[in-house]
Amino acid sequence: MTTSANEDIGPTSAMGSWRSMNPKASPTTHTLVVDESLRDGLQSPSVRNPHLDEKRELIHAMGAIGVDVVSIGLPAASTRAVDDAAALLKEISDARLPIRATAAARTTEADVAAIAEVSQRGGASVEVYAFIGSSPIRHYTEAWSDDFLVQRVAAAAKAAERAGLPFCLVTEDTTRASPSVLSRLWAVALDSGASRLCLCDTVGHAEPSGVEALVGFARNYLDAHGAQSVELDWHGHEDRGLALANALTAANAGVERIHGTALGVGERVGNVAMEPLLYNLGLAGRRPRTSLSALRHYSDLAARSFAFPISTFAPLVGERSRSLDEARTARCALAQQQKTEARATVEPPLEEGWMPIRLRLNGDNIEHMTRPSRTLLEMLRYDLDLVGTRQGCDKGDCGACTVLIDGEPHLSCITLAASCDERSITTVESLKGPPDLDPLLDAFDRCAAGQCGFCTPGMLMTATALLRKHPRPSRDTIKRALSGNLCRCTGYGAIFDAIDLAAKIRAGEEPPGVGLPGEHVPPPLAPQQEKAPTKEKAR
Ligand code: FES
Ligand code: FES
Repeated sequence: MTTSANEDIGPTSAMGSWRSMNPKASPTTHTLVVDESLRDGLQSPSVRNPHLDEKRELIHAMGAIGVDVVSIGLPAASTRAVDDAAALLKEISDARLPIRATAAARTTEADVAAIAEVSQRGGASVEVYAFIGSSPIRHYTEAWSDDFLVQRVAAAAKAAERAGLPFCLVTEDTTRASPSVLSRLWAVALDSGASRLCLCDTVGHAEPSGVEALVGFARNYLDAHGAQSVELDWHGHEDRGLALANALTAANAGVERIHGTALGVGERVGNVAMEPLLYNLGLAGRRPRTSLSALRHYSDLAARSFAFPISTFAPLVGERSRSLDEARTARCALAQQQKTEARATVEPPLEEGWMPIRLRLNGDNIEHMTRPSRTLLEMLRYDLDLVGTRQGCDKGDCGACTVLIDGEPHLSCITLAASCDERSITTVESLKGPPDLDPLLDAFDRCAAGQCGFCTPGMLMTATALLRKHPRPSRDTIKRALSGNLCRCTGYGAIFDAIDLAAKIRAGEEPPGVGLPGEHVPPPLAPQQEKAPTKEKAR
């Protein structure tokens, strides 16, 4: 039977992932990454040049996240740049870090000589990444002729060859250069011994389709000139917000090395951020996966060293991403613990049968027949008609099914009913209505803390346990306690307000809101405000 093209279209795995539908995206090469933080990153006006010890520490962090190649600077820039680059090279070699070193140079013999000095002092080879402007606008402003460019490239490449250093021609602004100029520059570089070419989107000009076309053009050029062993680099900037998409496209198009910087530091709005670059290349199977904790350590170190703050919303490494992961980890640990407890408590039955259990349910002692496979949630909702406890995800993710077992919040969807034998279960039905309205119900009502209400029973039970332990919890304590309860409607602020208000009502610091049904319901509390001065005082 033949398969039509359309039948190939669909999720790539049983999980139903539409992550990548590009058949060309299947990983055929191992993509290397080049960390440019200590070279291009330092061109950002918003970062400080770290001390040498900080740079050393950063190099080790780069090794820990799997960076393959690091740029150790632009040695010709200053005496300090030569000293730092030589010290970093020595550190890489002494610590036997699995990282290769590159250094940047203008296409001049003097700049290449500075790298040669670094190589000698550091006792290891350094790849020369020599850059030259390749776009018409640069040639116009600098009054450079094509012949002048060709001479400079040849001179720099020959200088590297004499020093025994590998040479990469970096055509700045490649994405705005004409094919004819690129062909001329590449030709002279290859004739002079270049082992790689670096394609640059220096001002964030390109879109992914343009990147694909440019890489294809370069690869065809190399094939046509018998230079298949010459490799390609991609170096992109973030001006249009396309840096990561372009970098991944370049990797899919077959570029061997992709450049990035810690936290995306760099000129104007920056470079490709190394953290999502590594993470996504790992997800795409183009290189080993990097652990999030190592990435976060690296970005924390970079933030400190460059005095560059991490955005709260930065993907993977920002505060928001970290707190979501913590909540997820806590839920997994809780679910695992409950499963372990359930396994330890219940003897595995040889066959499915009925078993008696005794419970204290919302203050009443009951006896009940259940099956070993019945969850506590199923027993409450479907056997005992206590439908206040919600069935949400049914796998320990959402917290809607939270009840108290011996006073502690538990997810009833992943707790076996049989494991609750001789234990005390408290559900949302235990919270009192008027006239002795439970402060939590009162406060949730007054703060409009429920919208669709699906999550509310779980929230109320978690909050009940919290207020028993912490009668006056801080905002942070409330947030932590509720981190396993998800709400798709409210945005949480009103829920936190309600729990705070309930604590105050319980402590007698706020009056209760409603008494009997039909009684006046006061509006939600406004934030406390300064009283307006009286006329006398104002005078
Ligand atoms: S229903 Fe139990 S955690 Fe979602
Ligand atoms: S109020 Fe709708 S899910 Fe929370």
